[in-house]
Amino acid sequence: MFKQLFDLSGRVAVVTGGGRNIGLSTAMALAEFGAKVVIAEIDPQVGEEGLAALQAKGYEAELHQLDVTNSKAVTACADAVVSKYGRVDIAVANAGIALGSPGELMPDEQWHKVIDINLHGVFYTNRAFGKHMLDAGKGSIVNIGSMSGIISNKPQEQVHYNAAKAGVHHLTKSLAGEWAKRGVRVNAVAPTYIETAMTKTGAANPDWFKTWMEMTPMGRMGQPSEIAACVLFLASDAASLVTGHVLVADAGYTVW
Ligand SMILES: NC(=O)c1ccc[n+]([C@@H]2O[C@H](COP(=O)([O-])OP(=O)(O)OC[C@H]3O[C@@H](n4cnc5c(N)ncnc54)[C@H](O)[C@@H]3O)[C@@H](O)[C@H]2O)c1
Repeated sequence: MFKQLFDLSGRVAVVTGGGRNIGLSTAMALAEFGAKVVIAEIDPQVGEEGLAALQAKGYEAELHQLDVTNSKAVTACADAVVSKYGRVDIAVANAGIALGSPGELMPDEQWHKVIDINLHGVFYTNRAFGKHMLDAGKGSIVNIGSMSGIISNKPQEQVHYNAAKAGVHHLTKSLAGEWAKRGVRVNAVAPTYIETAMTKTGAANPDWFKTWMEMTPMGRMGQPSEIAACVLFLASDAASLVTGHVLVADAGYTVW
């Protein structure tokens, strides 16, 4: 009874930024439970490597080169997926970047770049894939937010990143409310520091790493698979009653 709630056989899932780390691990998790997966990735080489890793496991997967800041391209990607498979059941808005600058010195370009990818890109993805799901009367969207949308990080200065992630959380609740009666669930996952390309430089800085670990009750970073497992739950029928939720997977960071 409960096992089948996680069965994604016959479903089609799209993961933005799905070529590596959290995105790729999520694609792997969804594929392991039966979904066909489309990775929508800006970097062709990263995308090809991610696709090869999925196919090496025997999973049905394909790659779309996509920049999530290009609204028309995101819509075209959603239309192409539905045109090919006749459906889209799961969309994971995962693509994101992290940059840093003290707020008072932050150049316009850096502010706009982070907001464009981490907030506008998430909205474009929700809108484009959500529209098809609403037409079908069913679907599940999972946005990758961050604990940075709940707290502001220390010691790194990243007002744009934190503001974008808070926006992702509230976008999630807003669309969840709009679409709840029409069969489409919208949720988010808010990770702590995860060992990926994004945190490599910070984790290698002894002062930063010491602060991060002192502020983390579990005293460790997370792995991409630990976020993928949260996405899997929210994407699946096991979470049929869950919408507008931000699942905080933060090793306890926000309890203090
Ligand atoms: N690593 C962490 O500690 C952490 C913590 C909280 C939240 N997150 C969030 O998780 C998500 C994934 O992060 P990650 O750590 O796996 O990072 P990562 O840099 O390893 O992967 C991000 C992927 O997104 C792709 N991408 C970047 N810009 C894109 C664009 N415009 N269009 C399409 N694809 C694009 C990259 O090419 C890359 O494959 C991000 O949204 C990030 O903000 C990460």
